[in-house]
Amino acid sequence: MHFATLLLTLFTGLTPLVRCIGDAYDNGFLDQAIKLMEESPLLDTHIDLPQIIRSLNRRPLDALPQLNGSYPGHVDIPRMREGRLGGAFWTVWAPCYDVTGEDPGADFNTPTNHLRDSLEMLDIIQNMIALHSDDLQYARTSTEIMTAFSSGKIASLIGMEGTHLLGNSLGALRIFAQLGVRYLTLTHTCHSAFASSVGSGTPLNDVHEGNGLSELGKELVKELNRVGIMVDLSHTTPETMRQAIALSEAPVVWTHAGARALWDHPRNVPDDVLDMIGDGPGQKDAVIQSVFFPLFIAGEGSNVSHVADHIEYIANKIGRNRVGIASDYDGMYATVEGLEDASKYPNLVAELLSRGWTTEEMRGVLGGNLMRIMDKVDEVSESLKERLPSSAIWEKRKDLPSTNWGGGGPQMYWPPDVKDTVDKMQIRHDEL
Ligand SMILES: *[C@@H]1O[C@H](CO)[C@@H](O)[C@H](O)[C@H]1NC(C)=O
Ligand SMILES: *[C@@H]1O[C@H](CO)[C@@H](O)[C@H](O)[C@H]1NC(C)=O
Repeated sequence: MHFATLLLTLFTGLTPLVRCIGDAYDNGFLDQAIKLMEESPLLDTHIDLPQIIRSLNRRPLDALPQLNGSYPGHVDIPRMREGRLGGAFWTVWAPCYDVTGEDPGADFNTPTNHLRDSLEMLDIIQNMIALHSDDLQYARTSTEIMTAFSSGKIASLIGMEGTHLLGNSLGALRIFAQLGVRYLTLTHTCHSAFASSVGSGTPLNDVHEGNGLSELGKELVKELNRVGIMVDLSHTTPETMRQAIALSEAPVVWTHAGARALWDHPRNVPDDVLDMIGDGPGQKDAVIQSVFFPLFIAGEGSNVSHVADHIEYIANKIGRNRVGIASDYDGMYATVEGLEDASKYPNLVAELLSRGWTTEEMRGVLGGNLMRIMDKVDEVSESLKERLPSSAIWEKRKDLPSTNWGGGGPQMYWPPDVKDTVDKMQIRHDEL
């Protein structure tokens, strides 16, 4: 294409778009916001697009080519580009058993499809990134995010939402770490063998002592530190939060949450937990990425100002270097006015600029704060590389040691000395 034609195309392509956002919501700071976002990546730590792909298609991979055009929900490539998105954490998630009806039972031992579903979600994400390599680029570290961003791609990271997805197994967690999972939310809306959840509004009955982490959950936090996966406390009970903050050797994150003091929903972070975050004695570093879901923000009529209020409230408590942005796009049935889809991020950036946040502070909010936490999590992981993997298992498991293996009948494939040993074993399957 001739250069002048290219320019013309670019301008006719871009100008109406900027004006279009501006017409609806311009407070005079939109141009500055867009310029800033073109220099420093905005990282959204929670986008549920893979869920939509898997919900709409019998063969989910067949849907991937459509993402370069208009796609149902809040997110597709054209809208992410229009919204100047710098990076996204794509969510590996399948609904909790309260939704799917796959009850794992009181001891969490009844098998469910969650582990398969998680692997399929990861496969969708990997293939989405591969197919749209002009627009998306896989990243795991802050360096890889910046490499993707500087080559004009949307950095694509992987987050996993809920430990109900892990098959009660630290082994499964370690494999997900190898597959690139960068954060693990300690629960979704259900309790798991690892941790206690706040549910989806009404409190759940306690299953773990103190409504916090199980013994295996405590082991999980240490294992997450070791493998360099961020500990995400969104969706968890305040006691799970407090225990995880105290236990974690690395900083923690909330990948999508708000402030409880501003809007009293259990999904938001309470003040006494915010008090545990900081540089002071006994405090941990953290970043809280503010969510856009009206239910957690200000109810009906929530708008960009209300989201900015949550960010400012949290920043006033724990610092402007500890806040960030997380839409929850494609994972919510309602949206905030002015942040209706992935083309609207600049409205929030403009809102904060209009409140006097400096360019440097804004670079942090966009992604710098989160990348600081990611770097620290990586440093902690590096410092723990001599530590052996945890051998802990879910204490209520009844299948280990696996004395009924053998297909045609018990002990069928065992060499005689193994069989002798098994015959003499005092086997207890639920020690605790
Ligand atoms: C999306 O890409 C396909 C080719 O893979 C192309 O045919 C189609 O026109 C593109 N759609 C848009 C909206 O760019
Ligand atoms: C958001 O709504 C509040 C009223 O709840 C209003 O005062 C404020 O101006 C609105 N903000 C925007 C950006 O429209």
